[in-house]
Formats: sequence, C-alpha cells, structure tokens
Amino acid sequence: MMARLIPENPIEFPNLYPKQKEFVRSNKVYVCYGGARGGGKSFAVDALCMIYCKMFPGIQILLVRRTYKDVFKNHVISLQLKLHCTIDNDPKRAAKWSKDEGSFIFANGSRIVIGYCDNENDALHYQGLAYDVVILEEATQFTEYQFEIFTEIVRPSGFCKVPFKPRMRLTCNPGGVGHEWVKRLFIDKNYKDTENPNDYQMIHAKVYDNEFIMNNDQNYVKRLENLPPERRAQMLDGDWNVFSGLFFIEFEERYHVIYDGRLPRDGNYNLYISLDYGLDMLAAYFIAITPYNVLVFDEIYEPGLIISQAAHKIRQKIEDLGFQYDDFTAILAPDDLWNTSQENGRCKADIWSDYGINLTKSKRDRSAGWLAIKEDLAVDYSLPPEERKDSCKLKIFSKCVNLIRCLPKLQTDPKNSDDCMKEPHELTHAPDSLRTFYTYWLSVPDEIKNQKSLKVPKEVYDDYLNASDEVREYLENKYGKIFCI
Ligand SMILES: Nc1ncnc2c1ncn2[C@@H]1O[C@H](COP(=O)(O)OP(=O)(O)OP(=O)(O)O)[C@@H](O)[C@H]1O
Ligand SMILES: [Mg+2]
Repeated sequence: MMARLIPENPIEFPNLYPKQKEFVRSNKVYVCYGGARGGGKSFAVDALCMIYCKMFPGIQILLVRRTYKDVFKNHVISLQLKLHCTIDNDPKRAAKWSKDEGSFIFANGSRIVIGYCDNENDALHYQGLAYDVVILEEATQFTEYQFEIFTEIVRPSGFCKVPFKPRMRLTCNPGGVGHEWVKRLFIDKNYKDTENPNDYQMIHAKVYDNEFIMNNDQNYVKRLENLPPERRAQMLDGDWNVFSGLFFIEFEERYHVIYDGRLPRDGNYNLYISLDYGLDMLAAYFIAITPYNVLVFDEIYEPGLIISQAAHKIRQKIEDLGFQYDDFTAILAPDDLWNTSQENGRCKADIWSDYGINLTKSKRDRSAGWLAIKEDLAVDYSLPPEERKDSCKLKIFSKCVNLIRCLPKLQTDPKNSDDCMKEPHELTHAPDSLRTFYTYWLSVPDEIKNQKSLKVPKEVYDDYLNASDEVREYLENKYGKIFCI
C-alpha cells in the first residue's frame, strides 16, 4: 500500500563538505559534530537522514530538538523540500510527510520520526521505544538525564531490513545546560567504567568549513567575530573551555557602569521605579529612559522593612533626588504583590497604596525579561574599543552597588539555559527588580515607549499650567509630557 503511495524515487543527495562526509560515514556508536556555529551541522543531519533511509531500507530514525518549533523550523521544512514532499504528485517525491505521525515515511519502510524534549518529563515519553538511530540536534540544550533516556532507546528497531549497528548522532555548540556532559564524553574523554572509549568520536565544526556561508554570507561570519569574548570563543572558535556558567556574560563593568553619572540636562527622559519587595529585602531601582539609553541611576537595597517603612523610604529617596512622586511614570512591582490574602481579601499592592505608593503590575516572564536585559547590555564588539561604551543601551550608575555586584555573579540554571539560578537567594533581589522593569517595558507599545517629555523651570511650568487647553495640547504634542524641574 505504502509503496504505491510513494514510488521509490531516487533521492538527490547533496554535495557534502569533508567534515559533513565524515559525520555521515562514521560507524561509531556516538558521534558528536560540534563546536562553532554555522559549520553545516544541521545540513549534515538532513543529509544523513536521507542517505540512511535510502541505504538501509526500513531504518527508523528519531530526530529530536528541545522544542517542536525548533525541529519543525530547522528540519521538517527543509526535509519536506529536499524530499519533494509538499506536492503529492511531484515525480521527484521520495517520501511522504505524515503530519499525524510527525514523520517522513519512505516507500522502503524507512522512517524519520520528528521529536522534541522540552523538559525532563518529555524524555519519559520516549522510554521503552526503539530506534536504530537517534539524533539529538543542539545536544548541549539537553540535560544528561535526557541524554541517558535517549541512549536507552538506541537499539535495533526490528524494521531495518539490512544489518545495521544502532547509533546516536549529536550536533551542538559549547555552552548550555548540557555543556558539561558533552565535554566529558567528547572533549575530555573522561569515561566511566560502563562507557567504551572506542564508541565515541568528535568532529569539530567551524564556520570556515562551510563554503556556502563563506561565499554567500560574510556578514554571518562578521556577526560571530563581533560577539562578546566568551560567546565568541564558544560560537566562532568552538572553544569548550571558556564556559563559566555565568548568566550575564554580556556584562562588563568598563562598558556598563557610569561613574559620577548624571541624568541628561535636557530633561528628555521618562522616569520609572522598579521593585523587588519582601521582608528579606527591598530592592528598588530608579530608572530613566532617554531616547538612547536605559539609565539605572539609583537604588534602595535594604532588608527588614515592613511596607509602611519601604513606602516611606521610596518617597524619601524621590525627594532626596529632587523629584516629585508624579514625575515617575510608574512604580513597577511583580504581579505576586496582587495575590489576595485569604484573611482579609486584600493584597500587598493595596497596602502599598495605603501608604501612598500606587504600584503598576509587571508580568513574571523570567526568560523574556532576562533576554531583554541581555539585549540592552549587548556591546558592539565590531567597534574600536574606545567607541564600544556608547554601543550598549543599558547603563548603571556606580551608586547602584548592589546591582553591579549581583548581576555579573548570577549563574545559569543548568536545567534551563534561558534562566538563572535562584540561589544564592541574596544575589537575586537586585537583578529580579531590574527584570520587573524589563518585563513591563516589553509590554509597552512603541508609541508610548518613544513618548517625549520635557522638564522646565517652575516659572515656565506655571505658564504652561495657566495656558489655554489649545496651547497646552499644542505644547504636549510638540514636547510630550511636561514636568517641573
Ligand atoms: N554542503 C552544503 N552545501 C550547501 N549549503 C550548505 C552545505 N552545508 C551547509 N550549507 C548551508 O549553510 C548554512 C548553515 O548550515 P547549517 O544550518 O547546517 O549550520 P549549523 O552548523 O547547523 O549552524 P548552527 O550552529 O547555527 O546550528 C545553511 O544555509 C545551509 O543550508
Ligand atoms: Mg544547526
């Protein structure tokens, strides 16, 4: 039945570069094709799948990435095109894509099953299955536990019609939750008694191996060359020894900290305060958004304050800085301050408001918030060193000693490379508070983000207040919100 549906068409095998050939030809049980970005690893994986399916009729291959979205974007679409699956009666059609099964089915019974494994529980769904080949794309995004579950299902599927030694193929870049186990097996070659050293082979990838990129996309190479030092070593040089596990590898005091900083004199900025509050710590950051920068210009970092005291501290700081409460567009706090108490139906945000601080709710999307901070910390390393300082958006005034102390110390969560560790807890208050600002800022529409404002002396401000509605509207359209200095 299947043979009639999909005629045995020849597969057009792509021309492979030498390391890609080595990857496809190797008979070792575990081969890791890894190192730098852009070497042609994913392309080689597609080629391996197509070649094996043709050469070993009935072979069952499982191709996994961490998320379905990633594996779909990276492999399903490209395999559909390479196997001519998109048009039913395409004479070059070599396999059928079954959406229901999530697999490519060949007339000879071979099959490429597409899988994902987002968390450790997802790995359990694969337990008990059998695949002749398991391919983990971006293997350093998997934990060692997930890897081990996959090793257990690499065994004869029983459908391959020719002798075939089951095997696993991995591709990856250094860094990520799986950095340590990949490095142990394929770089350090530090094996346990149960592991046979002869089973493992490493093929080092470099972007320079990839003629297609070298000839067509020099900008890609430039982008890799301009990454921050640690990331560049990993992504361009494929260096496995520089992974510090630090979460904000983008942070460099010489570029991000401003000594003796002052807010711009033109007053063209909007002010925010962001909070992380608990009895153990009030971490409040005073932030000015200018047309070019996010300036974190002051902090309160104090443990043991009840809400009335914390609110008082904030009001006092606003006054000490020479501002008024209304100068701040919003005072932001994480959404758990709106959880209502079972006893009196009130939430902490209500109590803050009793003490004169009206809070604005910010979402708790950790990875989106961290990513936004990383974006704003990004330094353009293609610039000469003396110009780099101006290329990053987020600047922290040296007064904010706790933020400057904690941010660069946070460690990456080994179970989720998009997040950082929540321990030691003391390090988290200041970064969490900054993240509260960023998750809010991400949800602000661009027209409000870019809203102008103008600070004017008292006498000019009085004139503005006394002006007619039309004049006020005209001034606001021209200068944005107008404040008194
Ligand atoms: N042998 C080849 N012939 C033609 N094009 C190729 C070949 N190998 C790779 N490419 C092209 O080079 C580009 C990068 O390749 P690929 O995505 O496989 O790299 P990668 O190592 O998986 O990158 P990353 O580290 O970002 O995952 C793609 O556009 C791919 O189609
Ligand atoms: Mg890839």
